[in-house]
Amino acid sequence: MDLDNWLATSPRRLNRLAEALGCKTYLEIGVSEGITFNAVNVETKTGVDPDFQFDWQASHDGVGTRLLPISSDEFFAQEPEKSRFDLIFIDGLHTYDQTYRDLQNALLHSHPGTVILIDDTIPCDAYSCCRDQEEAIRLREQSTGIANAIWHGDTYKIMPLIHLFHTAYEYCTIMDQGNPQTVLWRAKEPRKVDELASMTTFWGLENLAACDYLWMLRNPQIFNPVSEAEGLDRAVAGILALHP
Ligand SMILES: C[S@@+](CC[C@H](N)C(=O)[O-])C[C@H]1O[C@@H](n2cnc3c(N)ncnc32)[C@H](O)[C@@H]1O
Repeated sequence: MDLDNWLATSPRRLNRLAEALGCKTYLEIGVSEGITFNAVNVETKTGVDPDFQFDWQASHDGVGTRLLPISSDEFFAQEPEKSRFDLIFIDGLHTYDQTYRDLQNALLHSHPGTVILIDDTIPCDAYSCCRDQEEAIRLREQSTGIANAIWHGDTYKIMPLIHLFHTAYEYCTIMDQGNPQTVLWRAKEPRKVDELASMTTFWGLENLAACDYLWMLRNPQIFNPVSEAEGLDRAVAGILALHP
């Protein structure tokens, strides 16, 4: 997949969800250059990033477009409690602890029809899941000679947490046509966790530091891997079943 197609992945998925569900409010955690933020077609958009890579002040109008040059933690600490978003994209700091905190805070600012997309939930290789981006790139080049800036961090470790502790939500992980991303929405009924999956996942949680790249490859059931078409269809159908 070439770079242009890669950059179009998140906007394509988010716009498909927004259109099918009639989303009017959008929150993006981690905006960078605004490639996805600017391409999302939703009436009211909020973007949060402590280090924007574009002239955010030129786009910020405080009404239809709010751009806040602060961390996600600072944003959620100051956002009015009653504020709710229809569509949320979590793409900030790619460590599992920060991503999990972003997810928990996002859920506090959700309603039963909200859909959440989480970026980079499956790393592409063992180097990519290093918690430090520079080290990941350096070790890959040193060991394989491959010089690229691809970094997913250890975001994937939020999956056992979602799997076991968020049974009020359905989720699946889109594996094709671009970056792996997990889509999550409110379940009609509490999701059932089978005993074996529960035991494997619980081991994972007790030994989170040992949940390395190979552990992730051995346990795909925790991620619910699907195609892009199936994942988006399932989220839309799930939400429309709650709010016909
Ligand atoms: C992968 S980039 C985002 C790309 C963007 N979502 C897109 O699709 O065009 C990740 C961004 O997260 C930002 N970031 C890092 N730590 C953050 C935090 N604690 N809160 C919010 N954003 C953060 C970085 O500054 C960086 O710009």
